[in-house]
Amino acid sequence: MKKKISFIFGTRPEAIKLCPLITAMQAHPAMKPHVCVTGQHREMLDQVLVVFEVVPDVDLSLMQQRQTLGGLTSRAIASIDAYLAEHKPDMVIVQGDTTTAFCAALSAFYHKIPVAHVEAGLRTWNRYSPFPEEMNRVLVTRLAELHFVPTMMSRDNLLKDGILSDRIFVTGNTVIDALLTAVEKVKCNSPDIPSLPSFLMNSALDNPLVLITGHRRENFGKGFENICHAIAELARRFPETHFVYPVHLNPSVREPVYRILNQSAIGAALLAVKNIHLIEPLSYLPFIRIMDRAMLILTDSGGVQEEAPSLGKPVLVMRDTTERPEAVAMGTAKLVGTDVESIVENVSVLLTDRVAYEAMANAVNPYGDGRACGRIIGVCAQILSGVKVRPTEQGKF
Ligand code: UD1
Ligand code: UDP
Repeated sequence: MKKKISFIFGTRPEAIKLCPLITAMQAHPAMKPHVCVTGQHREMLDQVLVVFEVVPDVDLSLMQQRQTLGGLTSRAIASIDAYLAEHKPDMVIVQGDTTTAFCAALSAFYHKIPVAHVEAGLRTWNRYSPFPEEMNRVLVTRLAELHFVPTMMSRDNLLKDGILSDRIFVTGNTVIDALLTAVEKVKCNSPDIPSLPSFLMNSALDNPLVLITGHRRENFGKGFENICHAIAELARRFPETHFVYPVHLNPSVREPVYRILNQSAIGAALLAVKNIHLIEPLSYLPFIRIMDRAMLILTDSGGVQEEAPSLGKPVLVMRDTTERPEAVAMGTAKLVGTDVESIVENVSVLLTDRVAYEAMANAVNPYGDGRACGRIIGVCAQILSGVKVRPTEQGKF
């Protein structure tokens, strides 16, 4: 009989990074994926499931507007506990560092079901940055039995954390599997982006485009206000450049963004120039299209930091720490924090200094080669069939 593997996830990035693995596992002769979404995100999760054609077996529909960490955590543990009691999987797979990932790992541990952690080993070593993700992933590490790390640096982090080397598998990040599939689909059939004026997508030279995303809790308040003031200043300084910002659905993000860039006197003046575009979150394929069209990316997102270097796009990271130092080391990403002057200065340099721009715009791929899912499935299959996977047999990326 096939082993039942539960994938438990709830947010947009978890879905993007797990759907290619689920699809690949569906074809495996010895394993059967069972998909349980917590619905920690609703609209942004559903957008991804549609793209990858993954239909959940169970949807716990947990999202509430302005949910708190404590409220979501307690509801998630109760619901996942009931799910596990009913479906009794042979293994639970979680991804990353969200509340869903932590709650699923803890609930599986309570049921003595082995947990495999995809995208293990990321660390800033600062418990409050990113918050609460750094603590979530530290706790998932303690709970998991298998650790699929994207890079050698993340492997080193786990060794430093006391995890035995024969439990760690270097696979690359599944986001690159997702990205490469998406890039092919976009090439074959370029998706429309109706929320943007059509000339924008076709005029790369006349109209440079800066893509912006952001949602980190540690940037709420002053950080997001600074980010908005920096975008406003840049839009004034560079009237030919378009600033495209798909705004995350978290109300703590939307409130300052729409207040400062849309409703205030600053916003009214900028709307007249029409070079700031506040749009709804994009589905994955349109987002890849706009990333590819962008000259540079300003973000605090984890996934975008991993995808952009593959597309040869410089990334300015609006944070003080990153658990993804590989792209910084390769020179395609730079930490700029959330000070207005720092953001304005760093974007201005890239928009005006060709040499500085070319130095960052390298198509490098430190996070994967698009074959992470195959490696993960190979290890899971061997472990579930009782074969001891020796370190020498591990997939090395
Ligand atoms: C969550 C994760 C974060 C991840 C991010 C990806 C935690 C604690 N946070 O942060 O690690 O990087 O997702 O985007 O796990 N909302 C909607 N519709 C949606 C999604 C969100 O309305 O589809 C609104 C709701 O009001 C919700 C709020 O956003 O209560 C916050 O959602 P939540 O998942 O708690 O936090 P994120 O900031 O999205
Ligand atoms: N993304 C998307 N639409 C958007 C913005 C981002 O599909 O409008 C994708 C992006 O390509 C990346 C992922 O969402 O794969 C990142 O999600 P997010 O920034 O919400 O979370 P993080 O990666 O920071 O946890």
